[in-house]
Amino acid sequence: MSRPLPPIDIAKSAAAKRASAYVETGMKVGLGTGSTAAFLVNFLGERVRGEGLDIIAVPTSTATANLARENGIQVVTLDEARWLDLTIDGADEYDGEFNLIKGGGGALLQEKIVATASDRMIVIADTTKKVEALGAFPLPVEVLGFGMSTTQMLLEELLEGLDVMGNRAVPRVQDGALFVTDEGNHILDLHLGRIGDARQLALILNQVPGVVENGLFIDICDVIVTGHGDGSVEVRDINSGEVDTRGTDAPSDENAFLDMID
Ligand code: A5P
Repeated sequence: MSRPLPPIDIAKSAAAKRASAYVETGMKVGLGTGSTAAFLVNFLGERVRGEGLDIIAVPTSTATANLARENGIQVVTLDEARWLDLTIDGADEYDGEFNLIKGGGGALLQEKIVATASDRMIVIADTTKKVEALGAFPLPVEVLGFGMSTTQMLLEELLEGLDVMGNRAVPRVQDGALFVTDEGNHILDLHLGRIGDARQLALILNQVPGVVENGLFIDICDVIVTGHGDGSVEVRDINSGEVDTRGTDAPSDENAFLDMID
C-alpha cells in the first residue's frame, strides 16, 4: 500500500503537474534535476505513454537522463538538440526578481547551460524556496579539482570585500569523499547568509581561476510555479507580470512516486 504524501511533496507534485501542461507535442524540452523535477519527469512520462505526447528531451544530469528513459521519454544531448523551446527545473531559492540559487543537487553547470539554451525557463518550487534576499541556502560553486584549496582561499578572500554576510567556502562531501559532479569537478558551498547584490556576485565569482560556474541564475527564469501543501498552485510570469492563483487538481495523497525520492 502507498504511504500518504507529505505536504511538501504535495506542493512539489502540484507545481510539477501544472508546469507539465506547458509541454506540447513537437517541443524540445530541458529537464531539470532534483526531487521536484523528478515529479515533472514522471508526469511527462505519463503523458508520453497515455496520450502519445511526442517530445525530445535534454536532461541536466545522469540521474534525470535515467529517469526520463525509464519513463519512455526520448533523450538527446544538447548538441543534438542545439536549442530548446522550454526548460523546467527546480530551484533552491528564488527572489522577487526571479533570480535563483541552484545546485543543491550538484547539477548547476548542466542546468545553467540547458536553461540558457532555452526560449523559456519555468521553475517549479514549493513555498519554502521563496526568499526576500538570496543567500540563506549555501551557494554552490562548481570548481576544478586542480588547485581546489587555492580556489577556496581566493574565494574566501574575495568574499570578504563583497556585500555578503559570510565568506566560508566549504567543500561538498558525499559518503566521506569529495562530491564529484557529472563533469568530474567538485563543489564549494559558499555560506553567505545574505547576498546583497546577486547580479554582481554572479559575475565576479566566475572571474576566479578554477571556478567553472556558480549557482546564481540571473535573468534566466521566466515563469515560477509555486506549489502549496494543499495542492494549490500560483503561477507568476515575469514577462507579462501576470499572477495566476487559480487552484489545480490536488494530487492524490497516495504517493505513486515516493520510491523515486526516498
Ligand atoms: C540540482 O542541482 C538543483 O539545482 C535542484 O534543482 C534544486 O536543488 C532543487 O531541488 P529540489 O527540487 O529537490 O528541492
